[in-house]
Parts: sequence; C-alpha cells; structure tokens
Amino acid sequence: MDGRGGERAPSIADARVQRRTDAELIQIVHQGIPAAGMPAFSTLDDATGKSVIGYLRFLQGQVGAVKLPGEARNGKAIFFGKGQCSQCHMIGGAGGFIASELTIFASTRTVEEIREAVTKPGNLVRQNTLVRVTTRDGQKYLGALRNQDNFSLQLQSLDGAFHFFLKPELEAFERQPEPLMPSDYGSRLSPGELNDLISFLMVSANEHKAETGAQTNVREDEENE
Ligand code: HEC
Repeated sequence: MDGRGGERAPSIADARVQRRTDAELIQIVHQGIPAAGMPAFSTLDDATGKSVIGYLRFLQGQVGAVKLPGEARNGKAIFFGKGQCSQCHMIGGAGGFIASELTIFASTRTVEEIREAVTKPGNLVRQNTLVRVTTRDGQKYLGALRNQDNFSLQLQSLDGAFHFFLKPELEAFERQPEPLMPSDYGSRLSPGELNDLISFLMVSANEHKAETGAQTNVREDEENE
C-alpha cells in the first residue's frame, strides 16, 4: 500500500529504487523479475506505465513543488461546508464513508484531471451503487450496496453504519437512478472556489506524503537499534 514492502516483496520506496531512472523502472515493471516472483506487466501502455512510476516517485517523496491554483485553506472550508463534500467523502481522517477516500486522490493527478473529476463525475465508472431498501415493517434505508448474494444484502448508510438484510424481509429494493456524486459543482461553485478546493486536495495529498515519510524514518530508527 505505501511501497514499504511486506512479507512477499521488498520496499520500493527506498533509496535503492529511487536511484533508478524512470526508464529502468518501467522496464522492470514490463519484464517483471520472474525468478524473484515479480510478475511481468507487459501489457501496460505508456500512459499507464508513466502514472504508475509517477505514483512510485510520490511514495518516494520526489514530487517537485507544484504550484497551487488557489487557496487550500478556503478549499478546506468549502469541502467541509458549502460544497458538502465531507458528507460523502473522507479526507485526512474526517468526513463521510459512502464515497471514496480522497486523501491521496490528487497525488497522481494534474490540476485539470482533479477539476474534471469534481465537475464532470459523469465520466466515472463506479457509479449508481446507491440503493434504497424498504423492509416489510416499513423501515427505509438509503446507502451503498456493499455486498449481495441470493439471500441477503449488506448496505452502508450515509452515516457509515452497516445494515444486514435477508431478502425475504424486504418489501422493496431499488437502485437510485441518479448518481450520488452531484454533477453541478461546475455551476454551484465559482471558478475561484473550485481552484481553492483543488488546492486543498493537493495539499492534503502532500501532507499525507510528509506523514508517511516521517513514519519511514521512525521505522529505520527502530531497525538501527
Ligand atoms: C452525495 C454524496 C457526494 C457528495 C456530496 C460529493 N461526492 Fe464526490 N463522489 C461521490 C461518489 C458516490 C463518487 C463515485 C464513487 C466513489 O468515488 O466512491 C464520487 C467521486 C468523486 C471523485 C472521484 C473519486 C475517484 O476515486 O475517482 C472526486 C475527486 C470527488 N468525488 C470529489 C468530490 C468533491 C470535491 C465534492 C465536494 C465539492 C464531492 N465529491 C461531493 C459522492 C459524493
């Protein structure tokens, strides 16, 4: 998850890997290291390979200073206030559970890609997972479908709580036709407010990077003892 390695593979966020050029890293990803158990990802196209290496550089803490398009502090206020993003999204440990965690969202994306994700969510693949459930005793629940089999389903409501239902107990079960992520932020927020919001997402990704960097140092200290 953080590039520091685990039981099955070594760290890829350390200096040994950092010294390699992008071209060398892409070659390793393409060819794998079969003898050591690293599979080859020969089908990765150039753009995907580039963004994978970009993420690796991020984990290694080598991302250069990027100019923020706006004021991150204002963006934070919009995220938790007027924009209501935090009702659904969590960032830096605060916010909602129903949609994806956004702490490092900005780390692998350009300013324009982030703007697009916020203002044109129609391009998203994972949508329409919101369902409305009515039980036979008349209780209603709205949330994301997290699991389903022939006999039961599991729903996570907007407050983050999990609800388990047996299908025979249900009166109705319907998918919301409209996507959960609002599609009108392009008009609801001014261009300046959007820039502030984007800056907040970028700063959050950067702070996360600094934190994981600090953790790496702590671990190295422990190992040296
Ligand atoms: C009513 C709930 C809701 C609100 C409010 C909301 N979002 Fe979303 N958002 C979603 C859902 C659902 C998705 C798509 C699936 C997912 O990422 O979980 C999504 C997707 C996204 C994505 C793309 C995530 C990815 O991994 O591709 C970004 C970025 C994002 N939202 C940012 C925002 C920002 C910024 C705001 C506030 C201005 C906001 N959202 C408000 C529900 C919401």
